[in-house]
Amino acid sequence: MSRACFANMFDYQQFRAEFPYFQQPDAAVYLDNAATALKPQALIEATMEFYRSAGSVHRSQYDEKQTALYELARTRVKNLINAETENAVVWTSGTTQAINMVANGLLPYLQEGDEIVISEADHHANFVTWHAIAQKCGAQLRVLPITDDWLIDQNALLNTLNSKTKLVALNYVSNVTGTEQPVAHLIELVRRYSNALVLVDAAQAVSHISIDLQQLDADFIAFSAHKLYGPNGLGVLSGKLAALERLQPLQYGGKMIERVSAQQISFAELPYRLEAGTPNIAAVIGFNAVLEWLERWDFIAAEQQAVALAEQAKVQLKNYPFCKLFNSPKPSSVVCFVFEGIACSDLATLLAEQNIALRSGVHCAQPYLARLGQSATLRLSFAPYNTSSDLDAFFNALDKSLMLLAE
Ligand SMILES: Cc1ncc(COP(=O)(O)O)c(C=O)c1O
Repeated sequence: MSRACFANMFDYQQFRAEFPYFQQPDAAVYLDNAATALKPQALIEATMEFYRSAGSVHRSQYDEKQTALYELARTRVKNLINAETENAVVWTSGTTQAINMVANGLLPYLQEGDEIVISEADHHANFVTWHAIAQKCGAQLRVLPITDDWLIDQNALLNTLNSKTKLVALNYVSNVTGTEQPVAHLIELVRRYSNALVLVDAAQAVSHISIDLQQLDADFIAFSAHKLYGPNGLGVLSGKLAALERLQPLQYGGKMIERVSAQQISFAELPYRLEAGTPNIAAVIGFNAVLEWLERWDFIAAEQQAVALAEQAKVQLKNYPFCKLFNSPKPSSVVCFVFEGIACSDLATLLAEQNIALRSGVHCAQPYLARLGQSATLRLSFAPYNTSSDLDAFFNALDKSLMLLAE
């Protein structure tokens, strides 16, 4: 495959020019995009503009402009994922908080003997949260195995689903191997064989897949803005209105009530009843600018650029005798690998010294790593602003590191 095979369809140089990070003379070759994406100028400008202004949102007559931008961001998210309505878009601090809001919000409906289903494919945000909630309410935790292709074992899912299954939490795209689960089909199976609610962890999926919430038929979906070129400290919980309405708020406070007295509280409608307190306004307004800016780019061509680079990296890594790859069945923008006999952290340190930023470790997914039979892996994760020069820089640095380690 030609490294620049998508250059005609997607002008990655123009895309790259939107990111001030690359203007810094000491900028590392950034290949850790599954952790967090770089930030475009649009985000920086909108955030600065907000911090130059005064006031909050939904509080006073004078904050109308900010409130309008804040709510426009909600509309953009609704359109991005095809949510039912804006009311089904709840701001959170990230995927982790969104999953915790669902888990804690469902506590009143969960009891001893109920079953909660997760899988080995899960990030700790999903795995640990449901583990802890199961312990809290006495529910049984069922952990689905993944196959040798890193796909959730569908036979195990079928054998697990029953009338006691109350919640199934599914990983959409793995942060370890980049494997995309056939989530729509898995949800279909859940619907056929149980009455369980389904949560989809779309933290990785949101920057790689066009999500259509209504087609997906998930009850809850969670993602973080920072993986989609957005700000830190902002995420989204969305889903079916009926499912969101069942959630007991995780936090109580200002702006989430309708009426309050010493005797009684009644909550505001969605999404506000789940958004107690002053929100992260700067982040929401910044994300609004990012989503508007993203509309200018061909999302599919951009993704192909990132996937082409990752696939090229896989081809080249296969030429290294001690390199073991953990590939997803479909091409993806993530490359997961180890060099047998070399500690991942040693290699990552040598690469970092040569200005290459990649991830090494357990990727907040210890059960997944156990399934891979590894105590750690290295991970390259590409974004559309990466280029074949980034790949060359990585392989030059890798060769030097391996030579140093062989001495
Ligand atoms: C699959 C997956 N789920 C959940 C998370 C947690 O996201 P956050 O830390 O932004 O809450 C991540 C972050 O890497 C992830 O990759």
